[in-house]
Amino acid sequence: MGRDREQRQGRANGLLEGKVAVVTGGANGIGRACCERFAEEGADVVVADILDELGMDTIAAVEKKGRRAAYMHADASSPTDNETVMQHAVDLFGGIDILVTAAGISTADYRSDRPEAVARKAAKHAREQPDPMRRFTELRLSEWQQVLDVNLTGTLLAVQAASRVMLDLKRRGSIITIASIAAKHPEAGAPAYSVSKAGVWMLTKYAARVLGPAGIRVNAIGPGFIETNMTAVVRGLPDLEERLLANVPLGRMGTAREVADAALFLAGQQSSYFTGEMLHPDGGFYTD
Ligand SMILES: NC(=O)c1ccc[n+]([C@@H]2O[C@H](COP(=O)([O-])OP(=O)(O)OC[C@H]3O[C@@H](n4cnc5c(N)ncnc54)[C@H](O)[C@@H]3O)[C@@H](O)[C@H]2O)c1
Repeated sequence: MGRDREQRQGRANGLLEGKVAVVTGGANGIGRACCERFAEEGADVVVADILDELGMDTIAAVEKKGRRAAYMHADASSPTDNETVMQHAVDLFGGIDILVTAAGISTADYRSDRPEAVARKAAKHAREQPDPMRRFTELRLSEWQQVLDVNLTGTLLAVQAASRVMLDLKRRGSIITIASIAAKHPEAGAPAYSVSKAGVWMLTKYAARVLGPAGIRVNAIGPGFIETNMTAVVRGLPDLEERLLANVPLGRMGTAREVADAALFLAGQQSSYFTGEMLHPDGGFYTD
């Protein structure tokens, strides 16, 4: 294939040529950006999500870049669904080299395809209960459990299922979890969300330690404020956006593509000596 055509298809570097990636939460936002970025660099992609229409859009975007793609309806918090997704990757594309766990929710009722409704509800909740102390002491157990089920247990299940495949096939893989600056900064997210992401970070370090001897690397990305539907609530409240950006030296929100570039680095050979690390595409928010 001529270089012009490759550049048009956006995969001039071929950094992931011949690799197979599984991306949970790949239908939208950061997950979708990872699917597209990986495809540009030559990877085939399996997309797992609960939003089928958006998932099919991701498939079309990957195929447009000249790579193979498959979509599976899969709930991140289901052990069986995770198992089936990974088996699907083996059956269709011969194995798994890269896993990104991007499936996530900010609150129990968050829906990635209904950001306006979620933003309206969050604003109403903040109006009705403006005291953060009360918001914490009255946090519903159902809210806590749902967020932990998807964000933390979902990450564990995907990491377990993918690494079982990598071990069985003796394939040195790269696993990338999506945590958040909220893993280290409680003010960057609601309580259940921040705790779930802190758990993802510890899980990442734990998995890196135990899977390292098999050549499987496990790293996290801890994005700052990124323009996706998840942050529509922030963009809908100018005061809040201004307050948050005051702590971002680069003075703007990041893009999903900028997070996908960090994922590309962790997925490929350039990061071959990285494991148990967290990268922060966050415009300088986190400086410790
Ligand atoms: N946007 C940010 O500022 C930001 C910052 C830090 C971390 N993150 C994390 O990045 C990840 C992606 O979020 P995003 O900002 O791209 O939001 P998004 O809403 O655009 O994407 C989230 C994706 O996860 C999917 N998903 C949700 N629940 C699921 C479930 N039970 N099973 C399978 N898929 C499910 C959604 O359908 C959607 O496609 C999340 O884990 C989020 O916590 C986002």
